[in-house]
Amino acid sequence: MSEEFFELGELKGKAPKLFGIPTGTRLDEMFWRIEQKGDKFVKVPLGGIPHLAVINITGVPESGKSIFAEQFALVQAGAGYKTLFVTVESPAHFLYTSMKEKAAFLDIDFAEVEKNIVVIDASTNDELRENPKALMDTMAYAIKEKHTTNVVVDSITGLYEHKEIMARQIVRLFFNFLKKWKQTGIFISQKRSSQGSESAEAAGGLAVAHIVDGTIVMDKVLISSRWESKLYNMPLGSVIRTIRIDGCRLTGHDSRTWVFEITPAGTINIIAPLEEFIGGQHE
Ligand SMILES: Nc1ncnc2c1ncn2[C@@H]1O[C@H](COP(=O)(O)OP(=O)(O)O)[C@@H](O)[C@H]1O
Ligand SMILES: [Mg+2]
Repeated sequence: MSEEFFELGELKGKAPKLFGIPTGTRLDEMFWRIEQKGDKFVKVPLGGIPHLAVINITGVPESGKSIFAEQFALVQAGAGYKTLFVTVESPAHFLYTSMKEKAAFLDIDFAEVEKNIVVIDASTNDELRENPKALMDTMAYAIKEKHTTNVVVDSITGLYEHKEIMARQIVRLFFNFLKKWKQTGIFISQKRSSQGSESAEAAGGLAVAHIVDGTIVMDKVLISSRWESKLYNMPLGSVIRTIRIDGCRLTGHDSRTWVFEITPAGTINIIAPLEEFIGGQHE
């Protein structure tokens, strides 16, 4: 479009179709679109995160962000879709073993996983981690060569460690990059300990949340008082894990806080909304 302005209708051909990219968790039922059935409007689950969305997953350390991203890549691989997995914090060779165990647990053919997950290791490469241009060149090459449709960056905050003043700029660069290459994206963002664990804020403030299409907050709470123990009906010292869609500008979504568990194989099992969990209505 060369003109500086246009009628909305001119965007028709460019508008992406709204459908879901499965994550293999109950999150897939939590994004929806509205359809007219007779004289009623009903919610129709997308079956995944919105296609072509860039979603920010934020949370305190050990809240399950990385395992969520791995499960997403595995489920996509099992369905024949390729994910470019950019690992910024944990060296790539750790991924292999963990993906293999999870694939077996999720009953996904590991031969598919081996070829459908494409890894860039920025954790051991200072140039890739510190020079966004170098990383994006490598990513562009991988996307083209391997025909990926999804990108995971674990973590985006790891790309501006010690230079949070650059947060907006760097997040915007990678966001635009994913749009340009028509990838559905997951950006993982770490919280600083001073940030409210239930908030959408990440290192660099709200830069990530403001730029991306949607934010999911993962949290873990230590049951540390008798009152909490009674409320959650869980023993003192145990951990309750929660996940919540904080916002998404592309589709309607569930906005409740859900309780989840991490299975022994390191996958995510979303159990029930917190209110039902407390009410004891979950199985
Ligand atoms: N195979 C597993 N069995 C049980 N718990 C696991 C397994 N794998 C990971 N976990 C738990 O999941 C937590 C979250 O892991 P991770 O996704 O790496 O956190 P984050 O990326 O948010 O820092 C870990 O701290 C660990 O307690
Ligand atoms: Mg992690």
